Amino acid sequence: MTNTIILIGFMGAGKTTVGQQLAKETKQQFLDLDDEFVKETGTSIKSFMADNGEKAFRTMETKVLEDRLQNSGVISTGGGIVESDINREIIAKSDATVIFLQADLATVISRLATDTERPLLRQLSMKQLMDRWALREPLYSSLADSTIQTNGKRPEKIVQEVIKLFSPDNALVSLRSEIDSLDHQIVHLISERLTVVKEIADVKKDTGLSVVQHGRMDQMRSELKKEFRDDENVSDRLIDEIVDLLTSTSINHENKMFG
Ligand code: S3P
Repeated sequence: MTNTIILIGFMGAGKTTVGQQLAKETKQQFLDLDDEFVKETGTSIKSFMADNGEKAFRTMETKVLEDRLQNSGVISTGGGIVESDINREIIAKSDATVIFLQADLATVISRLATDTERPLLRQLSMKQLMDRWALREPLYSSLADSTIQTNGKRPEKIVQEVIKLFSPDNALVSLRSEIDSLDHQIVHLISERLTVVKEIADVKKDTGLSVVQHGRMDQMRSELKKEFRDDENVSDRLIDEIVDLLTSTSINHENKMFG
């Protein structure tokens, strides 16, 4: 492994949690630049920003970055570090390996729903947050040596993927990270779907409707086939297989509930 790993990515992408676990696993020192900021200034980011504004925060953030990069180990950064040209230059010039932990905006928002410490999250409107997202995404990508997808994954899994980046057969790690993340999301969605199925089963039970409604399933098949007509990845047969799987799982579930 290289001496220093810098984790970048939007707020809530998992940089601190993953960084801590990665450092532990690889027996390296861990530094969180937000924590280092607090040590350096003796005040929380929230109060610093409230008193001095974001611009002053960014200037101070650069100082902390420059100084702490003298250390080796795992360094997690604040989500906005890439907004400054100077910070990007400092990171690019260092000999650290830069890893972008990427998450969807929806994932980030749901992870941070109850956060009260991140001032920007409180200050920015949804539109402004989306603008920040759009501004930063290409900056993270261009600065990173590798990207790891974090949607739907547990920190331990993300740590293992980061470690794999340093193995000799690392060519597929980023792409596999993407596909694994999609698989996790698909299973989460199926679980969510089954929760709705349970609610439907309750209503059917109360209203005396039968479990299987053939008309509805056929309608869904034809809607999907029409929608994906021009998508060369998705054949009619694939749609049939997916709908068969989803409906048979739901019917089993409902039947169990009907007893
Ligand atoms: C910020 C992200 C925060 C922190 C500060 C500003 C940002 O770090 O540096 O509140 O601009 O996105 P995390 O990414 O660790 O939340």
